[in-house]
Amino acid sequence: MMTGKKILINKNMRLSSNQIVKNMVSTKLFLRDQFIQPVFIKEVETPSSKILGLGENKSLCKDDILKQFENDIIKGCRNFILFIIPEKKSDEIFDKSFSNEILLLIKNEFKDEIQLWVDLCICSRTRSGHCCLYKDKKIDFESSLKVMSELALSYIESGADGIAPSSMLKGVVSKIRSTLDLNNFNQVPIMSYSTKFASNFYGPFREAADSTPQFGDRSDYQLDFKSRSEAIDSSIRYANEGADLLMVKPGLLSLDLIKPIIEKTKKQVGAYQVSGEYASLIQLAKDNLINYEKALLETWFTLKRAGAQFIITYAARNAKELGFDK
Ligand code: PBG
Repeated sequence: MMTGKKILINKNMRLSSNQIVKNMVSTKLFLRDQFIQPVFIKEVETPSSKILGLGENKSLCKDDILKQFENDIIKGCRNFILFIIPEKKSDEIFDKSFSNEILLLIKNEFKDEIQLWVDLCICSRTRSGHCCLYKDKKIDFESSLKVMSELALSYIESGADGIAPSSMLKGVVSKIRSTLDLNNFNQVPIMSYSTKFASNFYGPFREAADSTPQFGDRSDYQLDFKSRSEAIDSSIRYANEGADLLMVKPGLLSLDLIKPIIEKTKKQVGAYQVSGEYASLIQLAKDNLINYEKALLETWFTLKRAGAQFIITYAARNAKELGFDK
């Protein structure tokens, strides 16, 4: 067993490994590095295509990846979370060649200029569209955790800087932590999707990630939005499993939970402004019913006011233009 002190030292080390992450967890200011830009990369998509509902966000094909990152970096964005969608689906063995190739390509080019998180879920990889493996209609915990920790290790070996497990599977954070530590990656931070609801607001994402469940829904592992105590307990559990950073999702629909989670876990908690939340702004603006930029800023400051330390948003790449100079 580690002592409390040792955990604290490790945690601090992981969250101060580079300037981007240091800014991300800085409590003094609202900084540009506190915005994380989701990027979708699809093996079969040529050419890159716009994602329905998400404005300028695209599903990228391989040839366009470097250009997109270059443009985003020029705009001042350098904190990214990647969603990798390989062509082949499987319910047993996950081919890592596409994800390895993509991560190597990006990291070889941009190295420490960027902080590259990878969303670790298998819903874009399974035939079922579920975030875990099923056996006889029940979640198969053992094999799910095994494939997820193997994927985490392969992502880090290919250059990813941090892992963001989004499956909401019990034990996923501790399994990934121990796998990374065993392989000498104990400096790699884990950002856990720790309070994630079975929400109605993930529609545009599921289109893009090709991850709509083929049977049932995600209520076996995602949270019921009617239960406040379960939602807080979930973050406490992932904090205890060893997550360095926590997250609520959908962000605007979880405002009430951020401060209680911070108080209970003493960890920093981010918010994911999910696809449906963001798409609502885009649609209202299209209908000339709101000023997009002002409304977007209002949502960001609201999340911050509620205590969000960092924000995953489909407009992170525009934060500088919107006034986040530092
Ligand atoms: C993968 C995952 C989802 C989102 C992030 N990671 C979809 C889901 O859980 O169904 C949603 C993000 C968004 O809507 O922007 N499990």
